[in-house]
Amino acid sequence: MDYGILTIFPGIFDSFLAHGIIRRAVADGIITVSVTDIRDFAKGRHRETDDRPYGGGAGMVMKPEPLAEAIKTVRNKQPDAKTILLSPQGRPFQQQTADELARENGLIFICGRYEGVDERVCRAYIDEEVSIGDYILTGGEPAAMVIIDAVTRLLPGSLGCEDSAEKDSFSDGRLEHPHYTRPPVFEGEAVPEVLLSGNHAAIETWRFEEALLRTLVRRPDLLANRALSKAEEEVLKRWCRHIEKLVAE
Ligand code: ADE
Repeated sequence: MDYGILTIFPGIFDSFLAHGIIRRAVADGIITVSVTDIRDFAKGRHRETDDRPYGGGAGMVMKPEPLAEAIKTVRNKQPDAKTILLSPQGRPFQQQTADELARENGLIFICGRYEGVDERVCRAYIDEEVSIGDYILTGGEPAAMVIIDAVTRLLPGSLGCEDSAEKDSFSDGRLEHPHYTRPPVFEGEAVPEVLLSGNHAAIETWRFEEALLRTLVRRPDLLANRALSKAEEEVLKRWCRHIEKLVAE
């Protein structure tokens, strides 16, 4: 996967690219990341990348000329890539969006700053706007990092253990079960016995039910918005019968 990033703060990405899974993915050739400074395409003594909005009002708007030039240059190098503008007005980014984007040949991220980007650039050069949540960042850079991180870990070979992305929270429409590691007792609290039993079928059943319970309590919307599997239905019905009995007593 080839990533292109257009930003007026290229240095923000240095640390991100130098650590963990992302650093290793670059080293292993699973991803390439090219960071382009939009200011390099700005003309004039002050190399301005923003200007006052037509019609007045607060805030500044990213100027079209340097941004368009920067996008054209990067697109020439990555003709198959999808061009994404990071913006709070975009399509909400979810695990499913990460799955979709991981199937692209390349992604070019435009990190908006100020109040926004001149609309003419959006219309002519942007394939899609994406938002990482209903809040306003000072710029798209953290959003680009979030998306690159979530997409990269889905690419074959990027995670140490090949199946670990498949068991993630959200991948089955459920949150993940709780995790434990050594020691067996920590601050007086023991690890659930089943996890020490060596009984793999029982462990799988425990994990499945804990994941379902966690989802029901913390994110019932995830269950409400999709069809339940037969196994989920059976467990939920069993819990219902149990609760009904408790209430009746
Ligand atoms: N830029 C500013 N806020 C943003 C958000 N929530 N998502 C993506 N890009 C942004």
